[in-house]
Amino acid sequence: MCGIFGYVGKQNNASQIVLEGLKLLEYRGYDSWGIAAKIKDERLKMKDFIVEKHIGKIGNALLNSQLSTPNSQLSIGHTRWATHGGVTVKNAHPHLDCTKTIAVVHNGIVENFQELKTELIKKGHRFISETDTEIIPHLVEENLKKEGFATSVRDAFNELKGMNAIVVMNAVSNEIIAAKNGSPLVVGVGKNEFFIASDASGIVKYTRKVIFIKDNEMAILGKNIQILSLPKGKKLRINYETVNWEPEDADKGKYKHFMIKEIYDQPKVIYNIAENYGDQIENFAKIIKDARGTFFIGAGTAYYACIGGAYLFSTVANKHVNVVVASEFNYLENFLNRESLVIALSQSGETIDVVEPITRAKQKKSTVAAITNTLGSSLYRLADHKILLGAGPEKAVASTKAYTAKLSLLLFLAFSLAGRNKEGKKLLVQTDREIRRILDKKNIEKIKKLADKLCRIDHIYTLGRGLSYSTALEAALKIKEVSYIHAEGFAGGELKHGTLALISEGTPCIIFAPIDETYEAIISNAIEIKARGGFVIGISPKRARVFDYWIKINDLKQASLIAQIIPAQLLGYFIAIKKGYDPDKPRNLAKSVTVK
Ligand code: F6R
Repeated sequence: MCGIFGYVGKQNNASQIVLEGLKLLEYRGYDSWGIAAKIKDERLKMKDFIVEKHIGKIGNALLNSQLSTPNSQLSIGHTRWATHGGVTVKNAHPHLDCTKTIAVVHNGIVENFQELKTELIKKGHRFISETDTEIIPHLVEENLKKEGFATSVRDAFNELKGMNAIVVMNAVSNEIIAAKNGSPLVVGVGKNEFFIASDASGIVKYTRKVIFIKDNEMAILGKNIQILSLPKGKKLRINYETVNWEPEDADKGKYKHFMIKEIYDQPKVIYNIAENYGDQIENFAKIIKDARGTFFIGAGTAYYACIGGAYLFSTVANKHVNVVVASEFNYLENFLNRESLVIALSQSGETIDVVEPITRAKQKKSTVAAITNTLGSSLYRLADHKILLGAGPEKAVASTKAYTAKLSLLLFLAFSLAGRNKEGKKLLVQTDREIRRILDKKNIEKIKKLADKLCRIDHIYTLGRGLSYSTALEAALKIKEVSYIHAEGFAGGELKHGTLALISEGTPCIIFAPIDETYEAIISNAIEIKARGGFVIGISPKRARVFDYWIKINDLKQASLIAQIIPAQLLGYFIAIKKGYDPDKPRNLAKSVTVK
């Protein structure tokens, strides 16, 4: 939540670099944005910052101010997902101190900001926003009266309660200092220049050499770089890493939205797992075999992938795993011990609801494993064992390719546990081909037609059984979060236990009916719906008589649950487009939820 980007170096268009970087981070928050830069103008001898802030999305905004002129070498920016204080220009970041030489952008919540603000007001500081963030530049300003910039930032950060990432820019020393104990920050290391950002997507265009700042560390960026530990400020050895994302991975390319681009990325992501993950999967399977008590945890879409995984483990490998929604795990972990294995699934690797229970599990000496898409993320660093999804950056708020990548890995793992690796690999290769077929123009037209039919409805229900239960849950989430239609997914067997009461003339219901042990029973559910006037949409290899609308998915045995979700992803996308919504930035949501 909230995107941060900063630049210090030799290039003369720092504010433009920051603006471009922010655009790539907008998925993290998009209710307002702002940039501060020091304008290099010897005649003006300016020390203070120029700041530009706006409400809403960055879109194609071209800065129409002094910031648009290529004459700055020091700049930070922020794209906001509001926590403290409404969505106003005043509340947008960056925030400045009284002298306008300290600018701050922030991700997190300063829990004790009210007390700190009261103290600062007593000392004569003036505030213009309602945010918790604004106390930070004033704290630094206060500290600067008695100590240097680095110590001032460090002491200010040490006073903050809560989980925070801050980036502070000083117009006098021409430095940027970042500090964090939550929320990601990565430094890009170029030639005589440094970048700082919430993720590497805006950085890879300039450099692949990065440093992931760990919790309780700070980075000082200026003519060179130093990494210090917090709270004491001890100098640390720098650990450089290389990001292998391509700059175009972070771009929409020929597509109108990231969501549709990422839907189309799925075949190649799955193929990559099939072709290149064999050894990693075998090693991971060994860890699972050795554990006594395995738990899958995740949030939202990742949680639904956990459910799909549990069914796969049971069906393919006769292996029981427990599935818990990550935000509940802390209330349900008394039984964890040294022999337990907790496997966390998370695209971002930063979701607080996942990172927190994983931290607790580690304290209990349980083994922790991560299936994540993000190298260097908090989860990645915490985990004893890890597999990267290799899906490339996922920018649309609605997760698509990370979901199918997680399921593909779990399917491969289940087959590996059963000693049937080759079969797992073969199924994934077939899945890649089937998804390519589903994404064919003719099928897309068919799904668009259905989207046209559904765009005026208020409710939709999605049903599956067995392996398709998780598909039903994820399909409902995908549709509701981008189209704002109330969508509810449930197990087919639950229909008669309540939801049937909601079915009336024309109520659309999506039925996932693969050719497996669930087929007869789910078709019976469809017939029950039809008898109450419901409009039955079947996603299945076979056209059943009960279907009013049929979307064909070829039989992929246990891998059917991966391909089945594609029509639902597309349906959500096309309904959102039809209704005039931006599917990449659904209202009230942000990608990577790093606050509770
Ligand atoms: C829905 C969606 C969210 C995320 C959830 C967890 O489309 O994207 O439900 O799945 O916020 O995010 P990660 O996987 O980053 O932990």
